[in-house]
Amino acid sequence: MAEADLPLSSDASILMLSDLETFTPPARVIRKHRMVGFDNRDARARPFNLLRTSFAKKLNEDGHRLVGITSATPAAGKSFLSMNLASSLARVVEEPVFLVDLDIRRASLAEEIGLAPERGVESFLDGSIDDLAAIGRRIEGTTLAVFPAVSRARNTAELLAGERYMHMIETLRDRSEASIILFDLPPAFASDDAMISLAQLDGYVLVVDSGKTTRRHVQDVLAMLQPTPCIGSILNRYRGGLGDSYGYGYGGPDYGRYYDRPEPEAGA
Ligand SMILES: Nc1ncnc2c1ncn2[C@@H]1O[C@H](COP(=O)(O)OP(=O)(O)OP(=O)(O)O)[C@@H](O)[C@H]1O
Ligand SMILES: [Mg+2]
Repeated sequence: MAEADLPLSSDASILMLSDLETFTPPARVIRKHRMVGFDNRDARARPFNLLRTSFAKKLNEDGHRLVGITSATPAAGKSFLSMNLASSLARVVEEPVFLVDLDIRRASLAEEIGLAPERGVESFLDGSIDDLAAIGRRIEGTTLAVFPAVSRARNTAELLAGERYMHMIETLRDRSEASIILFDLPPAFASDDAMISLAQLDGYVLVVDSGKTTRRHVQDVLAMLQPTPCIGSILNRYRGGLGDSYGYGYGGPDYGRYYDRPEPEAGA
């Protein structure tokens, strides 16, 4: 058999970090958006380093790889936490970490790192791009790849319920070399996008905004997102500041710390 007729090695169809274009986030953008997880020496990365250890251990124990990050209401810090956690994780786990923007109504990951993609995940979902590798960007000097999205206002739920979404998840799950794949999701209460997209993932992390999320919110989100397992919570104490390592908590599914809080007055 001539060499050209040899079958492709099985690796040929695997989505590899090395297939992706490299991108260097500008230092000023990283500073502006407080992407401290990229820099091990930054003292503000410490909470993320603590968080990544318990998070990676939990994923390993449960055999989970594809994890969504959501919250009850908007602006809880999902995108901020997912980028910082992903970059912090990528420094310790052996295989690559992928971070996918699935908030396709209001995508923000690209902006957080100064990337201005013409097309992103939404183009894979609507079929105008067939190659996921064309979308992902490897962050220079790291084993993290970001798959950004470009916002679109309409038919997001249809895209996330469609075959192309299943195909994307299948590719990431079975034909990518990533050990952990995080998905930045929209808030669960804003639309059914989070609920629909989570149906294909292994579980989710709930971001609890310590100043705003109520006990009722947590109960309602847990019920709404069933049967996808909630694999933990992150308490984002926004007002506690970044240097405060107690501002983040990686909770088990019982939310003990959270339930201890009194329910805020209506309108508070
Ligand atoms: N712990 C924190 N310390 C400092 N800034 C934070 C913290 N958490 C979030 N922020 C900032 O708050 C703003 C909202 O955060 P982010 O965009 O991550 O929220 P989100 O939950 O993804 O919002 P959305 O629901 O709109 O997607 C951003 O400017 C982010 O940088
Ligand atoms: Mg967000």
